[in-house]
Amino acid sequence: MGDTLVTTSEPLTVSVAVFDDYSAIESAWWRLLHDQQGLDFRGSVVELKSQMNIDRVQRFLESRIRQGRMLIARLEGELAGICTYSPDGFILDAPTQVWEIADVWVEPHARRNGIATALVRQGEHECKMRGATQVRLTVYALNDAALGLYQSLGYDISSYTLSRNLNP
Ligand SMILES: CC(C)(COP(=O)(O)OP(=O)(O)OC[C@H]1O[C@@H](n2cnc3c(N)ncnc32)[C@H](O)[C@@H]1OP(=O)(O)O)[C@@H](O)C(=O)NCCC(=O)NCCS
Repeated sequence: MGDTLVTTSEPLTVSVAVFDDYSAIESAWWRLLHDQQGLDFRGSVVELKSQMNIDRVQRFLESRIRQGRMLIARLEGELAGICTYSPDGFILDAPTQVWEIADVWVEPHARRNGIATALVRQGEHECKMRGATQVRLTVYALNDAALGLYQSLGYDISSYTLSRNLNP
């Protein structure tokens, strides 16, 4: 854990992110947030990059990197994608240990080359190495690309998230 882990097919590499990667990851993160704005109305904030949001993103990314819970995919040395993984919040002692993979992002120019596939497979490995016996993912219902990705990787739908606005 914590080292460069996988060389998929050259020149694609996937490894656990380190602080030297921070700047490239933060840039990708804002592209991810911008991209996902249309899928979750809460993301359609007036000022995405307000100082408060910048601070929150920084704290989140630093904590994921410090915990070794972020992967970075590089294509010829340049960031091509990222994902995170973390234990779910289930409080009971149970034989099934569930971790969640999230924030899967591949740069638009690099898509449909198997990069997300490599990230998720390596994320599964990282979760397993940390004790997970199951991985879960959450996908917006309108995100056809992500649904296609996860179904191609053998994920089944195990729950639905329902929502109702209280301030119509
Ligand atoms: C979803 C996303 C991560 C896929 O990344 P990717 O590197 O292009 O995915 P892969 O090349 O590994 O694709 C593997 C398979 O997933 C499916 N898939 C990927 N993109 C798809 C799309 N746009 N439409 C339908 N199926 C798709 C296909 O079955 C594909 O296999 P194929 O290329 O042989 O047909 C990428 O489109 C992305 O970053 N989207 C924006 C962020 C996002 O939505 N992240 C998911 C959050 S839950």
